[in-house]
Amino acid sequence: MLNAAKKPIDNVYFEDQQPDVTDSRDEILAGLKARQKRINPKYFYDERGSELFEQITETPEYYPTRTELSILDLYAEEMAEYCGTECVLIEPGSGSSEKVRLLLDALRPAAYVPLDISADFLYQSAVRLGREFPWLTVHAICADFSDQWQAPDLLPDGKRVVFYPGSTIGNMEPDIAKVFLSQLREITGEEGGVLIGVDLHKSEAVLNKAYNDDQGVTAEFNLNVLNQMNRMLEADFDANVFSHRAFYNTSQQRIEMHLVSKKQHSVCIENEYIEFEEGETIHTENSYKYTLDSFSELAHGAGFAVRQSWLDEQSLFSVHYLEVTRL
Ligand code: SAH
Ligand code: AVI
Repeated sequence: MLNAAKKPIDNVYFEDQQPDVTDSRDEILAGLKARQKRINPKYFYDERGSELFEQITETPEYYPTRTELSILDLYAEEMAEYCGTECVLIEPGSGSSEKVRLLLDALRPAAYVPLDISADFLYQSAVRLGREFPWLTVHAICADFSDQWQAPDLLPDGKRVVFYPGSTIGNMEPDIAKVFLSQLREITGEEGGVLIGVDLHKSEAVLNKAYNDDQGVTAEFNLNVLNQMNRMLEADFDANVFSHRAFYNTSQQRIEMHLVSKKQHSVCIENEYIEFEEGETIHTENSYKYTLDSFSELAHGAGFAVRQSWLDEQSLFSVHYLEVTRL
């Protein structure tokens, strides 16, 4: 693990805390050997995966990003009243850091800490943000937010606010999401808070379209995980032998994404063979959808209370400010 901070421009620091590749290999192999084969969605995000995610956000069918942007734009001042000015703003899964731009003028944070697994994309996004906002100190950290990571030594004092937009929480199983949220209390302490974006239940047709866009960008994003597997595991996955499937699972209240094997074949991974039947799938992602009540219950179970919620006019998406529950 590299911990020394690089300093690409005056107001931007970059730290590499990526986990050991051997641990990732073991996790991936265990998933591919399970009865329902699976790959953790965090492996979508190599540089190409991050670019494809950005393209998804621009498809007409994928409503979450533009809806959340409109909520942030409309209510930034109110959100700042909850977060306070001069806080240290920490964003796990920061991607392009597009959304935080809408908050910066209202919040004037003492520092911004974007944290992402996609190293090159994070580096470029942090430098771009630092150039655009020369008054802002950016401490970018490349790390897996579901694993151990360390806050930079150089962070100023002040209230800690975790900004967790995009409904990235929806990519976790609800019980894991609860543990993840409860661990955020170690960052926020008693005085800090969490500003979090959560996708809401809606018609199945709208949900299914959002993950099956007509241009096939989501399909390409899903299939691209196999390129990342080939690189990380020295495997020989052929993306042409798989197809994209995404559907709303009503009983689980989640979108499921799978890669479907078009034929019986085997894939070689580090001298082992993984067998695929025709029609067999690799489960690559869940995207859970919440109601205001079910999310509030999740937050409560993690030791947080919802202090305020902001929604768009059609109630497609929600943003919440959470505070630590006082006993
Ligand atoms: N916050 C942005 C991006 C959301 S996409 C937005 O709201 O638009 C999810 C982001 O989380 C991606 O940038 C991806 O690289 C990152 N990510 C996913 N799993 C991660 C993990 N385990 N650790 C760190 N980053 C992760
Ligand atoms: C990042 N995450 C919340 C997105 C989602 O909607 O679950 C990832 C994504 N998968 C397919 N399209 C977008």
